Amino acid sequence: KIVPVILCGGSGTRLWPMSRSQSPKQFHPVDGPGSLSFFQTTVQRHRSGIYDAPIVVTSVTHLTTVRRQLAELQCSATIIAEPVARNTGPAVLAAALKIAQTDPKSLMLVLPSDHVISGDMDGVISGPVQAAHDGRIVLFGITPTYPETGYGYIVDGGAFATHPGLRRVAHFVEKPPLKQATALVATGDAFWASGISLFAAETIISEMRRCDRKTYDAVVTSCEKGEKRTGELHLNTDALRRARSEPTERIVFENSERVVLCPANLVWNDVGSWTSIHGIGRPDAQGNVFHGDVIATDTEGALVHSQDRLVALVGVPGVIVIDTPDALLVTQRGRCQDVKKIVETLRKEE
Ligand code: GDD
Ligand code: MG
Repeated sequence: KIVPVILCGGSGTRLWPMSRSQSPKQFHPVDGPGSLSFFQTTVQRHRSGIYDAPIVVTSVTHLTTVRRQLAELQCSATIIAEPVARNTGPAVLAAALKIAQTDPKSLMLVLPSDHVISGDMDGVISGPVQAAHDGRIVLFGITPTYPETGYGYIVDGGAFATHPGLRRVAHFVEKPPLKQATALVATGDAFWASGISLFAAETIISEMRRCDRKTYDAVVTSCEKGEKRTGELHLNTDALRRARSEPTERIVFENSERVVLCPANLVWNDVGSWTSIHGIGRPDAQGNVFHGDVIATDTEGALVHSQDRLVALVGVPGVIVIDTPDALLVTQRGRCQDVKKIVETLRKEE
């Protein structure tokens, strides 16, 4: 069986001011108040017979939320809690080490928790299972529909003789500027990196060890010295601090011969920025997506979130207005990647 490993320790800074460090995007409802959160829909998507109980890797700050949202689904998961954020590389390794205690050959499916996905997920995941058993690191790629600057791209390196359906990886491009993203999409050879990957626990453990020994040692120690509670492992702070804060892509994928690309026929959106929130919304005849009390004239392609007052737009096409009780964001579609700069500035001032 495959162990789903759900990563939900990120802070979702590009969705400020709705996503705050205390309450990031993945724990917000996908479809308005009362609906399941992004994190919960991720859990639900991987509960069929091909999966074991999941491992959830998160920050200690989100523990209460994670426990509550899992209980709402009556899902018993193993939770790994990080006292400091170290990006996805160390998080994935900690999960792999935990799985390897039971069986190092077990397959793990790494899942970001901030996506909207539809399609035959079980079918997509089952395809490359043998390749993962053979020691491959399978990265699921999505056919791009527009030049998104907020995603990573995987460039197709040609057919893979031993595993039909899989492709070689030529190289990676992480979050390219618009010009480069446009060129990549135009080639037809580039896939969006979904952030979803499948491999055996022992594969990622040995590749982490080979690619970054210092981080590997730090995470191993952090697990060994960690505090074990019922269904939870709280990583050791001092050891985890010594791990490099980098995504798995940077530590292993970009440096490994074992990576293969699996094109996945899924409708997929990271919903990582206000531009992509606009992309999944239900637009009116003018292409506007409005949540809350909004009135507009002479405005197309706008996005407004208003919590408790009227927002009026006059002649501002493509504007984005996010109104919350204590902060107001005004920007434009296509400029949303820069919202994280505001958050960085605010953090420095804290
Ligand atoms: N446990 C844990 N600890 N999880 C983390 C941490 C951490 O320190 N940092 C991030 N995560 C989780 C986030 O909550 C999210 O679910 C996932 O890991 C990915 O992190 P993001 O911060 O959302 O990454 P991104 O969207 O900027 O970029 C990544 O995902 C894109 C697609 O969604 C990259 O993999 C891109 O190449 C990719 O296209
Ligand atoms: Mg993301």
